[in-house]
Amino acid sequence: MIPPKPTPRPDKVSLHQYVRLFRKDLLSAQPQRLYRAWMAEFRTPFFRSYMINQPALIDEVLKKRPDDFPKSQRVSEGLKPLLGESVFLTNGEVWKRQRRIIDPAFEGGRLRDTFPAMWAASEAAVQRLSQHAGQVIEIEEETSHAAADVIFRTLFSIPIDHEVAGQVFDEFRTYQRSAPIVNLGAFIPLPRWFPRFFRKDTKRTAASIRGLITQLTEARMAEITAGSAPDDLATKIMTTTDPVTGKSFDTNEMVDQVAIFFLAGHETSASALAWALYLCAAFPEWQEKIAEEAAGLTPDFASISKLRISRDVFREALRLYPPVPMMVREANCPETFRERNIPKGSQVVISPWHLHRQERLWDNPDGFDPARWHSENGKTCAREAFVPFSAGARVCTGAGFAMVEGVLMLSMILKHFRISPEGPPPVPIAHLTVRSRHGINLRLERRK
Ligand code: HEM
Repeated sequence: MIPPKPTPRPDKVSLHQYVRLFRKDLLSAQPQRLYRAWMAEFRTPFFRSYMINQPALIDEVLKKRPDDFPKSQRVSEGLKPLLGESVFLTNGEVWKRQRRIIDPAFEGGRLRDTFPAMWAASEAAVQRLSQHAGQVIEIEEETSHAAADVIFRTLFSIPIDHEVAGQVFDEFRTYQRSAPIVNLGAFIPLPRWFPRFFRKDTKRTAASIRGLITQLTEARMAEITAGSAPDDLATKIMTTTDPVTGKSFDTNEMVDQVAIFFLAGHETSASALAWALYLCAAFPEWQEKIAEEAAGLTPDFASISKLRISRDVFREALRLYPPVPMMVREANCPETFRERNIPKGSQVVISPWHLHRQERLWDNPDGFDPARWHSENGKTCAREAFVPFSAGARVCTGAGFAMVEGVLMLSMILKHFRISPEGPPPVPIAHLTVRSRHGINLRLERRK
C-alpha cells in the first residue's frame, strides 16, 4: 500500500485553471514532473519563480549564501498581522539579533530541562484519549490540543486548561480557518499593489490572539522583576541579553516571538504527529514494534534516546508529510542556476514535499519504509535530501525540541492504545501546514 499522495495536475493548464487549483490546494496544483525535475521555472507577467529540487542548489541557498536569499516578503505579508516582527519573518541584522537571544533557550541542556513539561503533556494527552477508547476520533484535533499543551507548559509553565492558554488555542483555530493561503504570493502572478486575500476576521482574530499573549508576557515581566518567575523558556528568553548589543527583548518584541513559537511550534508538531499516527494505523506491524519498544519508557530524558523505532517512524512521517511543505526565498542579486539566469528579485521555492519524494534520489520515494534510514540510500538521502526543519542559518530553532516531543508523544500514545484507520484514506492538502482535507479518523482501543 502506498500512503496517500495528492493527484498531480496535468502538465499543461491555463493560467486561470492554475490560479483556481492554487486557491484550492498548493499540492495538487503541481504537475507530476516536479517529482523528477532538478529545477522548474514558473513565468508570470510580473515576476518569476523557480522551484529548486536538487541538493546542491538547496545547499547554496540555505547553507552557503543565506544572506543572498532572504525570506520572501511576498510570503511574509500574509502572516504579518499575527506575527509582527517575529524571528520567522525578519531578515538581516534584526533577525540575527533575535536569533542570538532565542537560540540559547533551545540548546541541548535546556531541552533536558523542558522534558518534564513534555512528559506531563504526553500523560495529559493519554488521559484525554482514554475518554474515547472504543470510539472513532478525529486525530488532528487531538494532536493540535496536545502540541498546544506542550508549548504552553514549556514556554509559560501553564497547561492548556489554563484560561488564557485555552483562549489562545481557540482563537488560533479560528485564525487558521480564515487565514490567507500563505505561500500563494510566491507563485501567483499578482503585482505588489494587488490587495491580498485577507478576510476581515483574519485581522480581528490576529489582534485578539496578540492581546491574550500580551497578557501572559506582561504578567511574566512582572514576575521576573519580582524574582518569582518559574524557570521556563519564556523566562530564559526574556532574561537573555544579546551579547553584541547588550539589549534584551521588550514586551512588544517578546509578544511577536511568543506568537511564532505558538504557531510554528504547535501547528507543525500537531501535523507531524497526526500523520505519524495515521501511518502506524495503516501499517500495524510498525505500530506493534513501537508499542513493544515503549513498554520500557520511563520519565527520564535519557529514555528518549532508546526509542529508535519510534524515531525512525516519526522521521518517515516527516519525510512523506513534511509539515512545512514549501519555503520561499527571494534572490537578492542575479544568479545562474543550472545554466539558467535567475533575475534579481525572483522567488526561489524550496519544496521539502518534492525533495523528500525526489524520484532520482530516493529508493521507493512514495512508499512507507521506516527501515530505510539504516540503508545506504536512506543515509545518503538523510544528509542530502531531507530538510523537514530547513537547514543552514535559518534552520528551525525548535528542531531538537520537536524531535523529542514527537517521538515521546508517538510512543506514549501507542503504549496505551491500538489504533486502526476508519473510513476513506485521508487526502493531504497544504494549509498553513500539511493537513488532511477531511481530517484523519482513527479507531482507538485501549491496550491490555
Ligand atoms: C515537527 C515540528 C516542526 C517542523 C516540521 C518545523 C519546521 C520548520 C521549518 C521548515 C522552518 C523554516 C521555515 C522557512 O525557512 O521558511 C521552521 C522555522 C522555525 N521554527 Fe520550526 N518546526 C517544527 C517545530 C517547531 C517548534 C516546536 C518550535 C518552537 C518551540 C519552532 C520554532 C520555529 C521558529 C522560531 C522558526 C523560525 C526560524 C528562523 O527563521 O530563524 N518550530 N520550522
